Amino acid sequence: MNYFNYQNDQLFCEEVPVAEIAREVGTPFYLYSHRTLRNHFRVFDAAFAEVPHIVCYSVKANSNTAILRLFIREGSGVDLVSGGELYRAIKAGVDVGKVVYSGVGKRKDEIDSALKAGILMFNVESDQELETINDRAAMLGVRAGIALRVNPDVDPETHPHISTGLRENKFGIDIEASLVAYRRASSLAHLDIKGVSCHIGSQVTKTSPFIDALGRLKDLIRRLREEGIAIRYLDLGGGLGIAYDQETPPHPAEYARAIIDASKDLDCTFILEPGRVIVGNAGILVTRVLYTKRNDGKRFFIVDAGMNDLIRPSLYGAFHQIQPVLRRAREEITADVVGPICESGDFLAKGRALPVFEQEELMAVMSAGAYGFTMSSNYNSRPRIPEILVRDDRWYIIRKRETCEDLTRGEEIPDFMNT
Ligand code: LLP
Repeated sequence: MNYFNYQNDQLFCEEVPVAEIAREVGTPFYLYSHRTLRNHFRVFDAAFAEVPHIVCYSVKANSNTAILRLFIREGSGVDLVSGGELYRAIKAGVDVGKVVYSGVGKRKDEIDSALKAGILMFNVESDQELETINDRAAMLGVRAGIALRVNPDVDPETHPHISTGLRENKFGIDIEASLVAYRRASSLAHLDIKGVSCHIGSQVTKTSPFIDALGRLKDLIRRLREEGIAIRYLDLGGGLGIAYDQETPPHPAEYARAIIDASKDLDCTFILEPGRVIVGNAGILVTRVLYTKRNDGKRFFIVDAGMNDLIRPSLYGAFHQIQPVLRRAREEITADVVGPICESGDFLAKGRALPVFEQEELMAVMSAGAYGFTMSSNYNSRPRIPEILVRDDRWYIIRKRETCEDLTRGEEIPDFMNT
């Protein structure tokens, strides 16, 4: 359920006409619905109500501080992967006792910041990282909460670029080898083993891969407990998919039911790291048609948003539905929607059946709330676009459009070039 709907053929976000915002802020821009974000969070959280759990929203999906604040006020913790994300989360007011830190390449300075902040735990992805975290904690005179991120070797049946739980992926520690790593961890004085974690991939549209992974983690937890290693948290990562097109992912309630039923008597607090399922369908990208043209009989709609603003179609061949902001009866054609970037790979849709858009018309690229703005760049020296949040009948700029000064901020021309 989301709150982007037509009223008299005009696309609205909650009670605000999308065209009204476009008039005020110009295009392109990202637009999020507060009510959708909040409902998605609440539905997900409520799905796990009967078991002890912490929802640690995955910051990478959409890291705007206003959006982080919204979830934090709903009781969310965060899953983060960098010192920058930690900075954002703290700025947004996160409860550090609900922060988990994942990622294969944590730098020492990032580890230090997280230790000083007092996060719940690091999801450790290699033997060397384990030693490094112990050393840094010793140096700071603290104990680091840790879980090992194990690689359960299950196929999430998703796009290869976003599948992470197979043995051949760079993520995690082989589940078999993890016993040895846990023994080592329990011998290190500055580590406090808290749990076990995994993340099998993203945009997973079935329950079974999660349940397979859970089964393997349960075995591991049993073996660890037999060895006297206490496990209090089971972090199942994120990954629950959404409908971009015809996908039929399980509802969060169904996903939670399957997990809860498969883990009776486990006596662990669950940690969930959802990203996309919370924010994906709570945001759209609004762009304007600059030109329409034909090349060799092929039809193109050239719009003012490019792959630097939304890279998912170029990077993964991802599908995002495209809709007119003002709907009317008209002919349908097959066309490509392309951006202004100097790359053939710069497209938002290819060979898509679309209404005939006209020059200057507004277009909505749907399901762009996750991995949209966060993956955007300044390529071709294009200022990054604003983010707008609608709540009921009001809207707020939660990130300003960048300016040309922003583009060169921090750059310096060395003196010798001035003489
Ligand atoms: N936890 C960990 C450790 C992760 O690596 C990820 C995502 C998540 C949680 C959140 O996953 P989600 O619930 O959003 O599926 N850029 C790609 C997606 C990359 C996902 C990376 N990891 C895309 O646009 O589809």
